[in-house]
Amino acid sequence: MKNILVTGGAGFIGSNFINYILEKNPDYNIVNIDKLTYAGNLENLIPSQDKKNYKFIHGDITNSDLINYLFEKYELEYVINFAAESHVDRSILSSKEFVTTNVSGTNTLLDVARKFNVKKFIQISTDEVYGSLGKEGFFTEDTPLSPNSPYSSSKASADMLAIANYHTYGLPVVITRCSNNYGPYQFPEKLIPLMIINALHDKELPVYGDGKNVRDWIYVTDHCRAIELVFEKGENGGVYNIGTSTEMENIEIVKLILDYLKKSESLIEYVQDRLGHDRRYAIDSSKIKTTLGWSPKNSFEDAIIKTIDWYINNKDWWNRIISGEYMEYYQKLYNN
Ligand code: NAD
Ligand code: DAU
Repeated sequence: MKNILVTGGAGFIGSNFINYILEKNPDYNIVNIDKLTYAGNLENLIPSQDKKNYKFIHGDITNSDLINYLFEKYELEYVINFAAESHVDRSILSSKEFVTTNVSGTNTLLDVARKFNVKKFIQISTDEVYGSLGKEGFFTEDTPLSPNSPYSSSKASADMLAIANYHTYGLPVVITRCSNNYGPYQFPEKLIPLMIINALHDKELPVYGDGKNVRDWIYVTDHCRAIELVFEKGENGGVYNIGTSTEMENIEIVKLILDYLKKSESLIEYVQDRLGHDRRYAIDSSKIKTTLGWSPKNSFEDAIIKTIDWYINNKDWWNRIISGEYMEYYQKLYNN
């Protein structure tokens, strides 16, 4: 049995990861600590919640006493750190929580992990730490960090602390940097679920700027499979980029969603651009492909339809979300 602390496991990717890994691997004991911010939702974990080898702890990764206690009580040997404030627009409104959770929280986890001699510490990072690309080129693991938003700056800081722990103390840290995920349980502030839900309501679809910013999209389960491989075989001190080379302009995705839902393109509303909006992300994932044998299983064409269908079939899930705090935030964003 491997005793693993998963942080932020009630969020989009963390919950998909826990559901995936516990279904596949009964030898993993998962302790999931999550603060249950606006983005955390225990409903995402219904497939795992009754499993003997799964335990949920409502807590904050910045709470050093609690993290120490959990390491002792559950004899934790591994950490997979998903917990973060993850939304760029929110970080532009206020960066405070981003620094607290993403930087200080990660630092707390690293300190405690060191004390308990963890066997592996996986830091879930993002391609956004590399900054923005022009029309050509790809991010490789050697691309210098050049973050542009408060969110990506906080993630880059966490990466540096993680790498510093490897170099200074020999902590077995591995970093993953993935591109834009989509799939079930994604909070409807991110592009794809927001556009699906607005279209279903015949509400305007707010496209930032000219809509031609490019992201490299990956279905969330393919990200989870990559993390599993990095956890099992990743080289300590290493960085692994994860992406599928599915580059899409935002407007192409918005039009595809409208087309599938048989809604009019007149719902598209070009709105003021995001401040400091990164133009293009594109990932070179040849390292994880050649060294760990990873490759994505889901094509964008199939997985985007699977995703739209999931939101159509899970209206209760997102209805409970959009009737609450999320709406206040949304109104604040567009009234500013
Ligand atoms: P999310 O916002 O859906 O979930 C984050 C989770 O962390 C929530 O459950 C929240 O309650 C929890 N959390 C926040 N602060 C916490 C704290 N102080 N203590 C404990 N728990 C806390 O995010 P996501 O999209 O699932 O992203 C997960 C990770 O993957 C993040 O580190 C993010 O930077 C990274 N990432 C995301 C993407 C993407 O496309 N979504 C791509 C690459 C990397
Ligand atoms: O690249 C990985 C990153 O992807 C993760 O690290 C972040 O946690 C995650 O939020 C995501 O960041 P983005 O900023 O790329 O994702 P978002 O869904 O917010 O936006 C995707 C693109 O769509 C971006 O160019 C902005 C644009 N957009 C977004 C929203 C919410 C719009 O045009 N309109 C919108 O309403």
